[in-house]
Amino acid sequence: MKIDLLKTEAFVNGKWVKAASGKTFNVTNPANGEVIAAVPDMDRSDVKKAIDAADAAWPQYRDLTAKERSALLRNWFNLMLEHRDELAYLMTIESGKVITESQGEVTYGASFVEWFAEEAKRTYGDVIPPHTKDRRLVVIKQSVGVAAAITPWNFPLAMITRKVAPAVAAGCPVVVKPPSETPLTGLAIASLAEKAGFPPGIYNTITSAQSSETGKEFCENPKVRKLSFTGSTPVGKTLMQQCAPTLKKLSLELGGNAPFLVFEDADIAAAVKGALVSKFRHNGQTCVCVNRILVQETVYDEFVEKFTKAVLALKTGNVLEKDVQVGPLISEKALEKVQRHIDDAVSKGAHITTGGRHLEGLFFQPTVLTEATPEMIIAREEVFGPVAPIFRFRSEEEGIRMANDTEYGLAAYFYSRDVARCWRVAEALEYGMVGINEGLISTEVAPFGGIKESGFGREGSKYGMDYFMEIKYLCFGEIK
Ligand code: SIN
Repeated sequence: MKIDLLKTEAFVNGKWVKAASGKTFNVTNPANGEVIAAVPDMDRSDVKKAIDAADAAWPQYRDLTAKERSALLRNWFNLMLEHRDELAYLMTIESGKVITESQGEVTYGASFVEWFAEEAKRTYGDVIPPHTKDRRLVVIKQSVGVAAAITPWNFPLAMITRKVAPAVAAGCPVVVKPPSETPLTGLAIASLAEKAGFPPGIYNTITSAQSSETGKEFCENPKVRKLSFTGSTPVGKTLMQQCAPTLKKLSLELGGNAPFLVFEDADIAAAVKGALVSKFRHNGQTCVCVNRILVQETVYDEFVEKFTKAVLALKTGNVLEKDVQVGPLISEKALEKVQRHIDDAVSKGAHITTGGRHLEGLFFQPTVLTEATPEMIIAREEVFGPVAPIFRFRSEEEGIRMANDTEYGLAAYFYSRDVARCWRVAEALEYGMVGINEGLISTEVAPFGGIKESGFGREGSKYGMDYFMEIKYLCFGEIK
């Protein structure tokens, strides 16, 4: 496929640029190890230039009307959909995501742009009944200023748009750092933002393999007023510490350890389907993928049998073929983690009912482990791969206790046909998002985010723009 959107320079202040040092790093295809392209390996000084450009562009941009900002986003949205197949292809070759999921991600990612094009026009303030006769009290909302976005490799497009769209809708210039594994999709959508007509300095994308150095510049530079990060909990904690001296506004969407409970009154066929889509989305490499399947003991054997059969039927292979459902893992490190979790579980008594083996390259068989217990590493750590451990619980209370027994609190799922139980369990689960008889819950119209050590802040939905706006209170006196 000819890829017109393949860019090998960074985009700063409306121009395509190299790293000041001239250094580059390679982007490789995880499905076959081939080098796709080399992009600039920027350092702190390059990042600083991008931040300066964004800051200089802010005053003019924030003064655009909401309708004008909305129109830019609408153009960008239309361009993404027009280039859906090309973007999906690029995403698949750099991330290993199967092509149908990549196409879905372009639509999903673009949906945030459309949503915030609409929300841009609805950032209403308030008029407050005054406390004295001669005053009038008003609340307005204003853009926070330069926003930095650090995004992950598992969603090369949607995690950018979910941050950038509300930021630019609110009137904030952005500096995006896509991950070193998948910068090409990020650069491709930057080129569409250029085409959409964003003024120079408003949309900047830097590329770098020096993540901790560039991250430090984002955190320590006082011109950056907001940092939005999606990634691991340890990195999120480091960024938070580094942002403390400048008291930056932060949104952190971090790791998860999603439980998936199946109660004895569940529709088992529906639960199997829900667990399958949630567990094996992008080969288990999303923050909201099921990490622990907890099944009530009376339906344990039935669930295991049906789920194993469904996993066995998953097709692994060439990620560019439409019927392939499972691709490679992102890296050797990811592969080693999957193997380590399986070895640990098996050494502690788990049984493998399907899978369990490394295939070639970065491919691993979709795997089901039964008789999983809380002592296993997989009960505590996010596996981020195609391994589904199945635990047993006896009562509703025990199921909830096991589900909440983690420092994470991003997404949880459960299946039950008892309405009262649905309410009880939904309220008792300590998570930012809960799927009830549903395994896929992400959408631009609902708030995405976690609690506990899964971070804070919400993306998408009517709440998403609040994180890029300041509330200002105006008190008018002498009104006689
Ligand atoms: C993530 O894995 O961080 C995002 C998943 C989603 O948006 O559904």
